[in-house]
Amino acid sequence: MSTLHLIDHPLVQHKLTLMRRKEASTNSFRRMLGELSTLMAYEITRDMPLSDIEIETPLETMTAKVIDGKKLVLVSILRAGNGFLDGMLNVVPGARIGHIGLYRDPETLKPVEYYFKMPENMGERDAIVVDPMLATGNSAVAAVQQLKDRCSPKSIKFMCLLAAPEGVKTLQAAHPDVDIYTAAVDRELNDHGYILPGLGDAGDRIFGTK
Ligand code: URA
Repeated sequence: MSTLHLIDHPLVQHKLTLMRRKEASTNSFRRMLGELSTLMAYEITRDMPLSDIEIETPLETMTAKVIDGKKLVLVSILRAGNGFLDGMLNVVPGARIGHIGLYRDPETLKPVEYYFKMPENMGERDAIVVDPMLATGNSAVAAVQQLKDRCSPKSIKFMCLLAAPEGVKTLQAAHPDVDIYTAAVDRELNDHGYILPGLGDAGDRIFGTK
């Protein structure tokens, strides 16, 4: 079974609370999400492999650490996943970006794919799939499955802001090799697949579409 990592750093928790409030403007919601993504990216990259290289400081030669291997790929589940990218790129500026377009059929709540574009050499890259809300888990399961089937990255992690217990269970059951990183696990889903207490529709709040 994969590990569920709860990122409970006080800064993350404080900013998440500000984002949940219904009074938060689009502007401040977006800004908080940017700051949170930077903090969460710092945590999720904690175990990135390092290798040694020889460098010269102004005083002498030394053996120093650098991140090993090909550039990481951040895979955004459209459209809300895009809200994570700028903040994450603050700490991994060289990361490549992939996109998976999935929308939730409002009747069945099942994901339907409309876009898929990844960088080259995915087999040599570690992937972090990002979507702010892990609700039913159906989109996350489908996105990870598409990634595995079409380009087999070296490893896959999943990062969200909020998770519902149902989503965690579904993703872990379908992909026990994919660790989940989240700032909170909320109580439950409502009948429309929204997380309670949650923060509403993440896409609408990021893009100001409602
Ligand atoms: N997607 C959202 O944006 N919010 C939810 O609560 C669930 C899914």
